[in-house]
Amino acid sequence: MRDLWQDWADGSVGAGVSDALRDLAGKHFVLGMTGGIAAYKAAELTRRLQDHGATVQVVMTEAATHFMTPVTMQALSQRPVFVSQWDERVPNNMAHIDLSRAASAILVVPASADFMAKLVHGRADDLLSTLCLARECPLLIAPAMNRQMWSNPATQRNVAQLRSDGVILLGPTAGDQACGEVGAGRMLEAHEILEDTIGHFQPKILQDKRVLITAGGTFEPIDPVRGITNRSSGKMGYAVARAAHEAGARVTLVSGPCALATPRGVTRLDVETAAQMFARVMDYVSHAEIFISVAAVSDWRVVNPRTEKIKKAGPDDLPPPLQFEANIDILAAVAASAEAPYCVGFAAETSNLDEYAQAKRLRKGIPLIVGNLAQHAMGDDSSELVIYDEQGATRIARADKLTLARQLVAQIAARLSA
Ligand code: CTP
Repeated sequence: MRDLWQDWADGSVGAGVSDALRDLAGKHFVLGMTGGIAAYKAAELTRRLQDHGATVQVVMTEAATHFMTPVTMQALSQRPVFVSQWDERVPNNMAHIDLSRAASAILVVPASADFMAKLVHGRADDLLSTLCLARECPLLIAPAMNRQMWSNPATQRNVAQLRSDGVILLGPTAGDQACGEVGAGRMLEAHEILEDTIGHFQPKILQDKRVLITAGGTFEPIDPVRGITNRSSGKMGYAVARAAHEAGARVTLVSGPCALATPRGVTRLDVETAAQMFARVMDYVSHAEIFISVAAVSDWRVVNPRTEKIKKAGPDDLPPPLQFEANIDILAAVAASAEAPYCVGFAAETSNLDEYAQAKRLRKGIPLIVGNLAQHAMGDDSSELVIYDEQGATRIARADKLTLARQLVAQIAARLSA
């Protein structure tokens, strides 16, 4: 059995995916499936775990095989699937020990109400429950059930007990259910379970710290259909929010208009204008220990934006005159406030990065500023950063934005604990 795990570690699964995405390289998962209609999502999860460099051993309960076949899961995982503890393929009959010893974690997707009850009582009447009882590794479960089953006091007692036993619950969420009802108990989507699983393995270097982040560009209206904005995609700010959450922080993200998905576990507040962003930041900043200002905030706004669409009367009309007034510098205002949190700014420049970024850091009165060259950063999925503080510059080599964000979070955490 151990030899099988050795085979899995040879890197052949998930090959072809860029290194930046291989957040789970070298990780081995036992993917346990119990009986529930959400079992189909485990098929997608198997693939996504492999994309990120992990190897996956599927173990199904007998009930799970009524929803998905072992053949399907075998084809996806490229490993034989185990269902019974009496499997004749295992010479020493110790699958429950061997599999769990080599695993980085056991993921139970979906976890039925019945299986959760079994875990609470330490029962071991099939291979998967025996594996869970015999494990030395973390156990992450994604509950999936009807809303009444979820809210039943018995299930809620089990949830509380499992949490206090150190089992990590991923979800559930609320929404449409296979039975036609709507409510809590719906299993997370595969990509959400993946994001939580990746986050689980990140070092908890900002555990319970409250972090406020701004992201995206702002939009300053001219009239109800037109406005002034900039080329910020929001990707860097959202990556920083995800990295801070993965590090254990409680993250509030004040976001300008953008279509990106909110990182898991992050509270997002949407704004449009710089004035709205300033107001939201001020609402929350007194609770924050760290403020990371990634947003590309418009320096000016249009004076008296029109309430009606500006019309063109004739082809020879002159363009309408626009008058501007300055927006407040949110970062400088936060840094100057009484009991200011630890403030981190961003400086996107098109030239003279070292000089402009350090000057900006001093002007805004902040300990740390992150510089990048705007022409290589805005909208791209990768970038390179330089971190400036009073000691000088630290360069972070080109990488995808999540990798950069994790390194930035590590730099911030190191300075805070110093
Ligand atoms: N910033 C802010 N509020 C503003 C303008 C900028 O909070 N009104 C923050 C940004 O989020 C970023 C930092 O200040 O963290 C630097 O933003 P940038 O636009 O590069 O700096 P400016 O001070 O506007 O300087 P300039 O546009 O002249 O380069």
